[in-house]
Amino acid sequence: MEGSMTRREWMVKSLTALLALIYGIPALVMLVVPAFRRQKPPWVKVGNVNDFPAGEPKAVTLSYQRRDGWVIRTVRTTVYVAAKPDGSLKVLSNICTHASCAVRWERERKAFFCPCHAAYFDADGKVMQGPPPRPLPEYPHKVEGGLLYVQLENV
Ligand code: FES
Repeated sequence: MEGSMTRREWMVKSLTALLALIYGIPALVMLVVPAFRRQKPPWVKVGNVNDFPAGEPKAVTLSYQRRDGWVIRTVRTTVYVAAKPDGSLKVLSNICTHASCAVRWERERKAFFCPCHAAYFDADGKVMQGPPPRPLPEYPHKVEGGLLYVQLENV
């Protein structure tokens, strides 16, 4: 009979389709799911710890690659490294916790100043004056082989 399938042909095609489903769907999931997993915040090199003597916080602009799904983008951010006389370090965000304006260190006043609503933060990032509800965010950091690394994340 022309145009009709034999029972054998139907069995072969059905089995092929079934095997394609059994192996194809998991393979597709394995290919797609990792692209949508949230990436762990990377450790970004800030510099040699000796470049940050105790005293006033020093601004450092960092650039790193971040993957969001299928997209890899370059992120630039500024942090302040504050070294204490006891050798401990703090790495602070330069983003004000009130309305996300960039703060800057004012040497004369020994404080971070936010120009948007005239707020001040002390050298540890604590609010001294103005409307910010929280201190400046602090990033996790580590020192390895004399180099300072910071883990940037959405704080
Ligand atoms: S944004 Fe900094 S005080 Fe308002």
